[in-house]
Amino acid sequence: MNGIKPVLRRVVPEDAEVLARLGAETFFDTFVGTCTEEDMKGYLEQTYSVETVLRELSDPEDMFFFAEVQGAPVGYIRMKEDYEGLPLMRQWKALECKRLYVKKEFHKTGVAQALMDFFMEYASKNRFEVVWLGVWEFNFRAQRFYSKYGFVPNGQSHPFPIGSTPQTDIWLWKFMNAP
Ligand SMILES: CC(C)(COP(=O)(O)OP(=O)(O)OC[C@H]1O[C@@H](n2cnc3c(N)ncnc32)[C@H](O)[C@@H]1OP(=O)(O)O)[C@@H](O)C(=O)NCCC(=O)NCCS
Repeated sequence: MNGIKPVLRRVVPEDAEVLARLGAETFFDTFVGTCTEEDMKGYLEQTYSVETVLRELSDPEDMFFFAEVQGAPVGYIRMKEDYEGLPLMRQWKALECKRLYVKKEFHKTGVAQALMDFFMEYASKNRFEVVWLGVWEFNFRAQRFYSKYGFVPNGQSHPFPIGSTPQTDIWLWKFMNAP
């Protein structure tokens, strides 16, 4: 399956149900076993309800893109110029990769690369100075993936609880003029 070239397209409000399902499935697969079943259930119901997803899709600055293979979405990216998570980013024009999730059958196929290449190109074309994202401190696969793009920890972290299960995300960044 190596070298898959997915088609990328902007997710629109009509896709809310499909995005909610894909979001819930990929979040579950990533974090199952790291929190209680009850915490997982509550988090999925809240964060990936059609209502929540529809609200996010209604914000034109909150951009979601599907990666589609044979017409079916197998991963997605969410990106936004948003400084709320880490106000120190305000000193630059900064683009946050808020989510990047690929179905597990499509890991290591090039789908994640296509989404990340698109994100970096978007940042470059729109003259962002820095790109940044949060990743769970124990998600070593994702950290390795991001490091291949030049992301490095910026020394900051923040709590990312799943219900009552405490978890910590570290912030990574990459300055666009850095190698
Ligand atoms: C993170 C994600 C987008 C990366 O996509 P991918 O197709 O798996 O990425 P790649 O295979 O190109 O790169 C992953 C790297 O991690 C390595 N890796 C895999 N498991 C690992 C582990 N447990 N510890 C360290 N490195 C690991 C792989 O070998 C590969 O490195 P290499 O190319 O040097 O061999 C994808 O795995 C995913 O969607 N994961 C679930 C959702 C997720 O974690 N999203 C990130 C939230 S911040």
